Amino acid sequence: MIPTRRLSNGIEMPYLGFGTWKLKGEECSRLVEYALKTGYTAIDTAQVYVNEEAVGEGIRRSGKKRDEFFVTSKVRNRFQGYDHTLYAVEASLKRFGLEQLDLFLVHWPGEDMYVPTWKALVRMYEEGLLRAVGASNFFPEHLEVCAQETGIMPMVNQIELHPYLQQHEILDYCSEHDIFPVAWSPLMAGGESRKDAKTVKQEDIAEPVENPMKDPVIVQIAKNHKKTPAQVILHWHVQNGFGVVPKSSNEERIRQNMEIFDFELSDEEMKQMQKLTDRQYRVGDDPRTYRFPLLDEMIAAGNEPERDRFGNYM
Ligand SMILES: NC(=O)c1ccc[n+]([C@@H]2O[C@H](COP(=O)([O-])OP(=O)(O)OC[C@H]3O[C@@H](n4cnc5c(N)ncnc54)[C@H](OP(=O)(O)O)[C@@H]3O)[C@@H](O)[C@H]2O)c1
Repeated sequence: MIPTRRLSNGIEMPYLGFGTWKLKGEECSRLVEYALKTGYTAIDTAQVYVNEEAVGEGIRRSGKKRDEFFVTSKVRNRFQGYDHTLYAVEASLKRFGLEQLDLFLVHWPGEDMYVPTWKALVRMYEEGLLRAVGASNFFPEHLEVCAQETGIMPMVNQIELHPYLQQHEILDYCSEHDIFPVAWSPLMAGGESRKDAKTVKQEDIAEPVENPMKDPVIVQIAKNHKKTPAQVILHWHVQNGFGVVPKSSNEERIRQNMEIFDFELSDEEMKQMQKLTDRQYRVGDDPRTYRFPLLDEMIAAGNEPERDRFGNYM
């Protein structure tokens, strides 16, 4: 059984979800089906992963009933703004083939368009199309504005967290305001630098990016419990009260990442792992500076996005 956390609006969200970034098409459908049949009860995706239709297909193949799985998606940055968000969430529902989603997040704050984006999500939540709404990569100042503008605080904040990065300022705020923190890249993306996929060149990355699954402290703790380093890391997140959404394209590792609820780390082991977070390595973008073009700007620049098979912009 995967434990759940009660969100501030009373709905239950599983601590573990299957991450699907980089999974596409048939491989994505096959692995989502596998994850759900193996025991996962939640799937994490986003409009920008361009796999919502494949996730929907995997869910259908799993044969799970609607109340047996929890699906999260996120508003693609280009769709920020009130009207575009309403349109984009409707498009997601069509792609999944679902009438209601469990959780929708504003993917990144950007500059100031996250406010109308949040208002649109709140409207869809109040209309019942979304069971819960939240944020991703938000700092306290963004969360605070969301609550001030709508009277509704994001119920979840999905942020980069792993043994080499703990975002204390955000975590403290989440704990004070009953916001469920969920770790993205909980395994630090397997040590792979995500920055190289974006605008930053390898040589501009100040620190070499290491793999926490090879960290001697974690390897030793894994031996103590006869678990793998990945299982220790995922369990450590959950013991800290964070949700996790590990991604794997390998069936054995997908199963392994689920077997994390049958052991406890000692206070000493928790302290040793906490010490590793002193490094504060960030593998993704810094949300305070990350900026992106909006749909209307893209179209005006002659950069019109592709459409899905229903005719909606992707
Ligand atoms: N909100 C956001 O802005 C945001 C940003 C990034 C990611 N996310 C979400 O978070 C999810 C997870 O993040 P992520 O995909 O960046 O990284 P991650 O889950 O930390 O790591 C995935 C990497 O670790 C490897 N791996 C997985 N399980 C393993 C195991 N048991 N032993 C050894 N290696 C293992 C995978 O390789 P194999 O596939 O070969 O197993 C893959 O290379 C994403 O899929 C996405 O859903 C959200």
